[in-house]
Parts: sequence; C-alpha cells; structure tokens
Amino acid sequence: MNSKIEAILAKKGKAPVSELTAYDYPSARLVDEAGIDMILVGDSLGMVMLGYPDTTHVTLNHMLHHTEAVARAAKNAVVIADMPIHTYETPEQALETARALMAVGADAVKLEGGAAKEEHIRTIVQAGIPVQGHIGLLPQKVKEEGGYRMHGKTDEEAAAIMRDMEAVVRAGAFSVVIECTRHAVAAEITKACPIITIGIGAGKGTCDGEVAVYHDLLGGFPWFVPGFAKQRANISAEITRAVKEYIADVQRPE
Ligand code: KIV
Repeated sequence: MNSKIEAILAKKGKAPVSELTAYDYPSARLVDEAGIDMILVGDSLGMVMLGYPDTTHVTLNHMLHHTEAVARAAKNAVVIADMPIHTYETPEQALETARALMAVGADAVKLEGGAAKEEHIRTIVQAGIPVQGHIGLLPQKVKEEGGYRMHGKTDEEAAAIMRDMEAVVRAGAFSVVIECTRHAVAAEITKACPIITIGIGAGKGTCDGEVAVYHDLLGGFPWFVPGFAKQRANISAEITRAVKEYIADVQRPE
C-alpha cells in the first residue's frame, strides 16, 4: 500500500484526519501547503466550479481535467478523485474508471454506495488502487431520494448504513465518508469500523476525521451554503470588493 495511505491509516484512534476538496492548481496548492491530510477532487465541482444544479451532470472528462491539475499541485496530501455517476455501473467499468483517474495523478479514488458497490470496490482494491467509500447521503442519488436530508433517523436506516460500512470494509477500502447521517449513528459506526471514517454533516468528533467543501469553508459560493457548513472566511465578499475597487479605478478620469 502507498506510504501516504499507510500514514493516514495509522491515525485511526490516535489523531483526527483532515480532508478538504480542491479542484484546481491554486486551491490544491494552498490547501496542501496549509498541511491538509487528504485532498478530495470531489464531483461537487459540478456545482461549485461548473454551475450545475447537482453532481449528476459531472463526467469522467471533467474529473480527469481537474484531478490532473490538483495532482500537479499536491506534494504531501493524499489526492482522492471522485468517480462520477454512470462511470462505475459494473465492477469492470469501475476498474477502468479508477485506472483512468490514477493515470492522471490520483493516489486513491472515491465512489458512492455500500453493500450495492461491494464487488466494485473489491475489484478496484484488488488491482492495487486504494478506495474511499461513501455512505449515508449519496449526492449522486439525490434526485431518486427527493433531495438532501439527514439519514439514519430510523433504526432500519441506521442498521442499513452500518451494513453499508461493513460491506465497504470487507471490500478492502481504506476509508469511508459518512455524509449527512444522524450524529449518534455516525459515532456508533466509527466505533465499529476498523478503517478511517470521515464525516460531513455527521457531527463534530463523531468520526475519525472530517471533510468539507473548499467553497463552503471559504465562502466562495454564496448562492448556496449547506446548513451544516462552517464558513471560516468570506472570499466572495473580498473578490466583489476588489473588483468594484478596480472598476472604479478604471472609470476614474486621469
Ligand atoms: O464531491 C464531494 O465534494 C464529496 C464530499 C461532499 C464528501 O463527495
């Protein structure tokens, strides 16, 4: 296994793991130089970079283009590339997609789904490619599921997410994202899980680490901010201020 991934696995139960999305060279270089453990080239780029309403419009070509730029920038962080919708329908197709993303510089790939994707994950892992799973809310299924909502609210749903985690672990993934899942459920899954769990919208301190979307963290996409996002800067306001200042300067008579 890649030594960067081994270092992440060694943090289980010892130190929290930080993960943040980035989609291009400058964002990835800044995030890497700040010391992040893992950079996710998330298919959330469909929304925050390309202006689509959700992630279901993202193609493999989009992901290859952005992953290549991020990989060029990241010197220390593990670069994880998201596998977009319809590119891992079968285990064979999943392996082909994973190989394409690794060929442009990813260290690992991420795909959505637990028990339903066990064989797909196993096929990729057996080919020597590290996989991060993704359970709980699955953004690529948001249309079928009728929107973004908290998962694991009933005992049945919580048990299904636990089974998804077990399937991802059996398949050999090194990590799993738990998205928008009731906090107590995310904590219970993390306790039972031998690999690294990464929460988003799943509560503070419930998982082995957290992932956030770059634009949510930095205030870079003011038109939509998920309720759970903790904004720590307001780069949109700063951009607007600087551009207005520039326009005024250009328009000022000599
Ligand atoms: O695409 C993405 O940014 C993600 C995170 C929300 C985990 O999958």
